Parts: sequence; structure tokens; C-alpha cells
Amino acid sequence: MVYYIMTKIFFITGTDTNVGKTIVSCALLKIANDYGYNTVGYKPIATSNVNDKFNSDISLLSHYSSVKLNYNIINPFSFQQCTAPNIASCIEKVKISLDKISSNLNIITNLANFIIIEGAGGWLTPIDDNYNYSDWVISQKLSVIMVVKIKLGCINHSLLTNLAIKTHKLNLIGWIANCGVSDIPFKIEYINTIKHKLSAPLIGIIPKLTGSEQHKPHIASNFLEKNLIL
Ligand SMILES: Nc1ncnc2c1ncn2[C@@H]1O[C@H](COP(=O)(O)OP(=O)(O)O)[C@@H](O)[C@H]1O
Ligand SMILES: [Mg+2]
Repeated sequence: MVYYIMTKIFFITGTDTNVGKTIVSCALLKIANDYGYNTVGYKPIATSNVNDKFNSDISLLSHYSSVKLNYNIINPFSFQQCTAPNIASCIEKVKISLDKISSNLNIITNLANFIIIEGAGGWLTPIDDNYNYSDWVISQKLSVIMVVKIKLGCINHSLLTNLAIKTHKLNLIGWIANCGVSDIPFKIEYINTIKHKLSAPLIGIIPKLTGSEQHKPHIASNFLEKNLIL
């Protein structure tokens, strides 16, 4: 008997840059690895690459992927500037091609059955004068997971992101509350308010983690609800 396992593809967005998208992406890959999927973390556009080397997001995603692919497959667009992709693309004179991002995803889809795609910045990050990153996500009809950095302002940021995702009838699988970035008052109140206002389920609450960058996603995976993604 032949068992056909549907490929699962999730796009990870966040309420901002630096909110825990990479930690969550790697934690989801870890859960899927444990479950026996062939996994790949894909970061189509990365910025802030130091000394021409691929940035730390790419090496972390590769570390947590069970299928090891060339960096130019899992990161076709890599910029040194620490800025929005449209600006980095202009300065470094490399046009971001949505077709290239799609064709690399096709290659990965033939090699893996669980793919995590990490966005860049937040939902409406521009890639050039005409398109935002979200236009590509919409064209691919991807399911989305939203990472929320819990802090003052996160209610507004998460509701706006949710609204933008829902406007295009995309499936928001769920959201993750990342509480680790700073110790702030009213954390639980913020989480409960967002929970009450979003129809998408809360996949997990990640506390402040200690340890190396490479180990943090491993610990974070213990705080995520596995049933929603497997
Ligand atoms: N829950 C947490 N506990 C400790 N450090 C965290 C936590 N979440 C994020 N960080 C740290 O904050 C930084 C940004 O997280 P990252 O996952 O790279 O965000 P993004 O991918 O959205 O830019 C990283 O150095 C990461 O280790
Ligand atoms: Mg990242």
C-alpha cells in the first residue's frame, strides 16, 4: 500500500522584526523532525548578512532542517544591509524576483514534506516599489502562523496583522505569544486580550529562554501545541 503524505507548508510572519520568527520556525521544524517529517526551513529573503556570509537565520534554519540543502536554495536573496528588503535590493542592485522565490519553493517541495518559510520583518514588508512580501504569500495561498512579541503595543500590531491576513482569505493557522524578549507588566492581560479578539488559536506561549541561539528553539518547541501543525 502506498501512503501519500501531504506536504505541509507554513509561512511564519511576525508583528515586527526581531519578534522570534526564527526561534519559532526552528522550533516547529524540531517538532516535525521528531514526528518523522522530511523538513526544510526556507528563508527566501534575508538581510543583515555579515561579511558576505549567510546570516544567522539561515544557519539556524539549516541546523533544524532534516533535509540539508545548499544555502542558495534555502536563501535565494541575501543582502548585507540591515534594512527593509526593497531598500537593500536598491542599494545592492539585486532585484528580488518572486518567480525565483516560487521556483525555489518548488524545488524544496519535491524534497521535503514539511516546509517552514520564514518571512522578513512584518506582514507588509515591501520587496520593491510594486510588491510587498505578502503579495507572494497571497499568490501561493500559503497557511500563515503569526508570532507576536508580547509588549506594550502588541495588541494593535497583532490585530492589524490578523486583519491584513484575513482580508486576503488566507488561513491563519494560529499565533504564538513570545514573552521572552523583555520582562514587562500586563503580559497575561495582553495575551488574553489578543486571544479573545482573534479567531485563530493560540499555539503556545514561549517564556524567556536562556542558553545559546542554537539551543533556544529546542527549548521553545516544548511550549508549542503540536496538534495544530502536524
Ligand atoms: N523567548 C525568548 N527568550 C530569549 N530570547 C529570545 C526569545 N525570543 C527571541 N529571542 C531572541 O531575540 C532575538 C530575535 O529573535 P528571532 O527569532 O531572531 O526574531 P526574528 O526572526 O523575528 O527577527 C534572537 O537573539 C533571539 O534569540
Ligand atoms: Mg529571523
